[in-house]
Amino acid sequence: MPETFYITTPIYYVNDVPHIGHAYTTVAADTMARYMRLTGREVYFLTGTDEHGQKVEKTAASKGITNKEFVDSVAPRFQELCRTLNASNDDFIRTTEERHKNAVQHIFKLLQEKGAIYKGEYEDWYCVPCESFWTELQLKDGKCPDCGRDVDKLKEESYFFKLSEYGGEDGKLTKFLEANKGFIMPESRYNEVLSFVKGGLRDLSVSRTSFTWGIPVPGDERHVIYVWLDALTNYISALGWPEDTGKFKRFWPADVHVIGKDILRFHAVYWPAFLMALDMPLPKRVFSHGWWTLAGEKMSKSKGNVVDPFSVVDELDRHGIGVDGFRYFLLREVPFGLDGDYSRDALVNRINIDLANDLGNLHFRTINMIEKYLGGEIPCPDKPSGPEGTLNESIPGIAAEYCGCMGDMSFSDALQEAWKAISEANRVIDHSAPWALAKSDKEEDKAHLGNVLGVAAQVLKASAVLLHPFMPEKTQVIWEQLGHETRLDTLKVDLSGNFFAYEKGQRIKKGQAPFPRIETERIKALKAASAAASGKEAKVATAKPATPSPLPSPAGGEGGKEQGCFIKIDDFMKVELKVGKVLSAERVPKSDKLIKMQIDLGTETRQIVGGIGKSYEPEQLVGRNVVVVANLKPAKLMGIESKGMVLAAGDVDSLKLASFEAEVTPGTRVK
Ligand code: MSP
Repeated sequence: MPETFYITTPIYYVNDVPHIGHAYTTVAADTMARYMRLTGREVYFLTGTDEHGQKVEKTAASKGITNKEFVDSVAPRFQELCRTLNASNDDFIRTTEERHKNAVQHIFKLLQEKGAIYKGEYEDWYCVPCESFWTELQLKDGKCPDCGRDVDKLKEESYFFKLSEYGGEDGKLTKFLEANKGFIMPESRYNEVLSFVKGGLRDLSVSRTSFTWGIPVPGDERHVIYVWLDALTNYISALGWPEDTGKFKRFWPADVHVIGKDILRFHAVYWPAFLMALDMPLPKRVFSHGWWTLAGEKMSKSKGNVVDPFSVVDELDRHGIGVDGFRYFLLREVPFGLDGDYSRDALVNRINIDLANDLGNLHFRTINMIEKYLGGEIPCPDKPSGPEGTLNESIPGIAAEYCGCMGDMSFSDALQEAWKAISEANRVIDHSAPWALAKSDKEEDKAHLGNVLGVAAQVLKASAVLLHPFMPEKTQVIWEQLGHETRLDTLKVDLSGNFFAYEKGQRIKKGQAPFPRIETERIKALKAASAAASGKEAKVATAKPATPSPLPSPAGGEGGKEQGCFIKIDDFMKVELKVGKVLSAERVPKSDKLIKMQIDLGTETRQIVGGIGKSYEPEQLVGRNVVVVANLKPAKLMGIESKGMVLAAGDVDSLKLASFEAEVTPGTRVK
């Protein structure tokens, strides 16, 4: 029987619209679930919606509909979010389902039977939006310490859970926490909770009579069960507890509850205390992640500054990047556990630099060169030496580091590990110039070519596997282009083994590039402005064709003295020469001379068709700095639009591109 892995997200309040915060927890949990499946575990991944409480009751009333009608109308939006994010959850629990209600009432009864709950009277400050009671001391300037909103004084008959037995220096929970440092991650959060628990806990009110939208206390229906006792129970009710002990036995205790830092107290204090009182095993870990802000501010529905995950994914879909770009960004941009600020620019940069440039380039070059130089058969490296040998040897170590990071849910670090191999593979290709090796007849060059492309293909295969949990769709595309017919999401891989090697004779299947570059609005605006400007200049140049002037004579010659033989600096400056970086290049079909290139000009990506195909292979061009005439009137070459020209010198079959002695930033003016 495979080892199991049970992972959960919080169940989301249906009173809110799905936003980036929900998306974040779901994507993180999904990535972890996929990683565990990949490495052979039997995974159960749970998410759902939290549908009871006073807030829901108020919203439904304001809409003039029943509570049930309201929750039934909003819960599907959260299910849709799961589908949009490509979450692979095994279940989606709603707290209004019978299976859940029964479990919550059963827990309440058990806690009563075990003497962990008593009836008393409650008086304290209550924050309706947070569904939390606060003591006078806990209030901040008389307001809720969590959300800063007004609180109401509430006095009511209530059932209490004996939480006080769990806190203080000798409390049961204190002792448990001291013995289980890894229970709460990251460590800073563990320290917070430990000192809070050590400081002593008050008994917890676990029923309410001030509203009715909840699960009734069995035998005392004036009370509804406290919404957090109700909500936390989802983690076991979804496993069929108490009836279906099969699934519960198999998966409980959970391996990790993934939550945001705002709900740590409920998961790391109340939930373990409830479970201890029930004599049930505690979850193995609670991982508390940080919060996303927008322009440094907390997102909230009332401020209207929430990032809508549906529209982000929609936009990425239009660019051909899809949800994987968003998933990658969320887990790469900010170390899991820390707060981060969201911006569209940061999202686009990550996609353009990491995915389109680094991974996209490696994919494009490797597949193309294997097709062109090796007839499409992926070479198996034969005792590679030099940089490609070192790279080849480094893959198992990189995979091991990656696994270590994934085990700690350090997603950003795990991705950086995978990128070490991707960046190095790109460097090895640049350094070894397979396009030159392919022209050589020497046996050693042929072997070298096979080794470089073989190792590059291995890195690509390793990347498809290691990045699969993060980007399930795009890695499948890469996987299939590497000639595999299997589904990565059903694959079980031993990441400590030779999982990146190929069988002899495996062939690539060329297809679409998985990561097109995104042009931002700012870039598009600049592009439009520069097109308008170049249009104007083109008119100046073409309105009155210059009469051919005699070439200046050698220095000292008569002609040299004639002003008319020279152009003025202003004339020269009309030619907008810029540094470009070739992002991709491919031959124009049916032409041995023309190569179509996408060139980064700093503020835009330009398509330029150049007549350099007899002197260069497309792979030789990718990543190179070139000099571009940026304001040349656009033209069509063999029906393909070309917006500019790259400078080169020499005969058509021995052209040499103008270049720089060192790397220059794309877009820099050449003067
Ligand atoms: N219903 C409770 C959870 C009960 S679990 C037994 C709840 N729901 S929530 O919808 O308000 O929040 C769900 C998750 O979204 C929490 O983990 C929370 O931390 C996360 N986020 C909400 N806003 C967030 C950001 N701006 N950034 C990151 N995550 C945040 O709490």
